[in-house]
This record gives sequence, structure tokens and C-alpha cells, in this order.
Amino acid sequence: MHNIAIDGPAGAGKSTIAKMVAKKLGFIYVDTGAMYRAMALYFIRNGIAGDDEAAITKACEGIDVSIEYENGQQIVLLNGENVNDYIRTEEVSMMTSDTSKYPAVRSKLLDIQRNLAKVKDVIMDGRDIGTCVLPDAETKIYLTASSAERARRRYKEQVERGIECDIEQIEKDIIARDEQDMNREISPLKQAEDAVLLDSSDMSIEEVVDEMIRIHKNGK
Ligand code: DC
Repeated sequence: MHNIAIDGPAGAGKSTIAKMVAKKLGFIYVDTGAMYRAMALYFIRNGIAGDDEAAITKACEGIDVSIEYENGQQIVLLNGENVNDYIRTEEVSMMTSDTSKYPAVRSKLLDIQRNLAKVKDVIMDGRDIGTCVLPDAETKIYLTASSAERARRRYKEQVERGIECDIEQIEKDIIARDEQDMNREISPLKQAEDAVLLDSSDMSIEEVVDEMIRIHKNGK
């Protein structure tokens, strides 16, 4: 199977780009962040605090996360319920970053992600795909952009969805999440040694897509 691993900080455009590359190459796109988000949603709904590791570990026993595809779109199922519409709020984003550092949460999703990549050509994005989930992926890309540019993109996206927001607050949240994701003990966000660094700060979406496909076809 052909596997492409994409990692990078929040808001770097990983999912937008990966979806487009998947379409062009005929790969399946796997959004691993959405799976961590589904678990965080479960903790929120059950009134479990993000820093209560014992309660989170226990709660993991009652969670089943799986994914399906409908018209090419990934659907995340939390105990059988499609939760796609509930996992993109700021509250869930922060709770996800808070809780994805726990071993019980990570081990729950690791096998699911690895098994998907064994049976399909996948382009998978997340924080630890090149370093931990798919260490043998033939193409690894670390996609980043400045925090100001990432905040600007996220702001534009929210405004287009009709959601009122403050760009400075968005940038602060992004930086807080990066800090937490890069400094945790297990599977922190970092560039794999054999990953190609792609800084998209001054690139259009199409340019990044073309560059990724070029890297995949030609190596670095
Ligand atoms: O990619 P995203 O913004 O949907 O990810 C949400 C959070 O999930 C992110 O802050 C860290 C966590 N995450 C992770 O720990 N490992 C992954 N492979 C993907 C996401």
C-alpha cells in the first residue's frame, strides 16, 4: 500500500490540502484529529474534566470510535453516532489537545489508524503520523505556516461560516495548542527525521497541493 503521512501544527491547512491530494491521487484521506476530537466530545458530554486522567482512562473503556466514508467524506462515529457536526468548536479543540496526551486515549486510536493504512492507499494527517503511526510511510511531509498566517486562515474560515470571532484570540489559542501538542510526553508533534518540511505561509492552496504531489512522485 502507498501511504503519505502529513503532520504539522493546528491550522496549517493539513486537512484542506490532504483532501485535495487524496482526490488527485485516488487515495483515501484519513483525518486522525477528528478521531481525537470525537473522544474529547465524549469526555465533555459526560462531564469529565480534561485534567482528570483517571476518569478519562476509565471512560476510554466505554468509547468506540470508527470512521466511514460517505460520498468521499470522512464520517466519525462515536459509539455509532455520526458526530461530524459537533467536533469543530473551540471548546472541543482545546479539550482534544488537553486529552490527547494521555496513553489510554492514544492507544485506543493507534491500531485503528495503522489498520486503515495497511489495507488502503491513505494520506493521513495528524501530529504523530510520520513519527509514530506510520513510521514506514513512503512520503512524509511536515506542513507548517506562521502562527499569524494560520490564525488569519482560521479567522476567514469561521467568518465564512457566519461565526463571529476575534483573530487575536484565535492566534492565542493556536499557540497554546501548539505548545501543548509539541511538549507532551507521548507522541509529541515534531518533524520526523525523514519528513520534508513545507512552509505554506506564502503559498496558495494549489501550490501546496502541487508541491506535495511532486514530493510524493519524486521523493524530496
Ligand atoms: O488536527 P486537529 O486540529 O483536528 O487536531 C486536534 C487535536 O488532536 C490536536 O490539538 C492534537 C490532537 N491530535 C493528536 O494528538 N494526534 C493526532 N494524530 C491528531 C490530532
